[in-house]
Amino acid sequence: MPANIIDGKDIAEKILDSVKERVSKLKEKPKLALVLVGNNPASEVYVNFKEKDCLKCGCGCDRYNLPEDIDEIALLDLVTKLNNDPGVHGILVQLPLPKHINENLIMDSILPHKDVDGFTPVNLGNLVNDNNFLEPATARACIALIESVENKIEGKNAVVVGRSSIVGKPVALLLLQKNATATICHSKTKNLKEHTKNADILVVAVGKAGLIKRDMVKEGAVVIDVGISRVNGKIVGDVDFDSVKEVAGFLTPVPGGVGPMTRAMLLDNLLMAYRLKPKM
Ligand code: GUN
Repeated sequence: MPANIIDGKDIAEKILDSVKERVSKLKEKPKLALVLVGNNPASEVYVNFKEKDCLKCGCGCDRYNLPEDIDEIALLDLVTKLNNDPGVHGILVQLPLPKHINENLIMDSILPHKDVDGFTPVNLGNLVNDNNFLEPATARACIALIESVENKIEGKNAVVVGRSSIVGKPVALLLLQKNATATICHSKTKNLKEHTKNADILVVAVGKAGLIKRDMVKEGAVVIDVGISRVNGKIVGDVDFDSVKEVAGFLTPVPGGVGPMTRAMLLDNLLMAYRLKPKM
């Protein structure tokens, strides 16, 4: 039987509506500082979406478009200024940054309670310690999509393909917190299929178009596709959608799955950051 397609767009709209409703009751509007360095076209598209989402939810958004050749010190100075600005509740520096800038250094410079991406070492460390603060938005999106169709993650075999610090590792930690048996596969994993075929829940986040084929998926599995690639002008995921939908139980589409949910979770994180702001 063909898989049920999980409509991430629809679930995301409901979350954004709820954020908008909660924001409308606040005296001061939560404000996001969005920092884009250089002219990476994909990053520009993502940042445009994030800015639109903020405005749609009644949040403020200050956007900083910085030149590709900005030096590290100048970027650190901007983050420090935003950290010290009580009118800014969330700071997002879009990745990737140009090669001459140390991404870890920049992430580490964002105050944890303004880190709406959940990428700072403090917030990632809190995940490791089961002491969650602000969680990475894409990881939250994956869990919400899984939970929209699966009410018991506990005890399930969950396989995450991809070990990035911004998606693969945080998703695996969240699944582990929910008592799944979590396995992380990566480019050096031997016999990937042996692992994926055993997954009740499969999350794929590597950025390799169509990597996961029908014969790699367990019948009835929940499959979450985080990948985004452009092939012949078409946006596709890491999962070979047409073949996998014949075997999976539930499957997210690309586009219209994890992407819109990540954006919704970012706004929810902004609201959380607003509530976490230290009282002055
Ligand atoms: N680049 C790709 N995804 C993300 C994200 O979720 N946050 C930031 N800051 N950069 C990204």
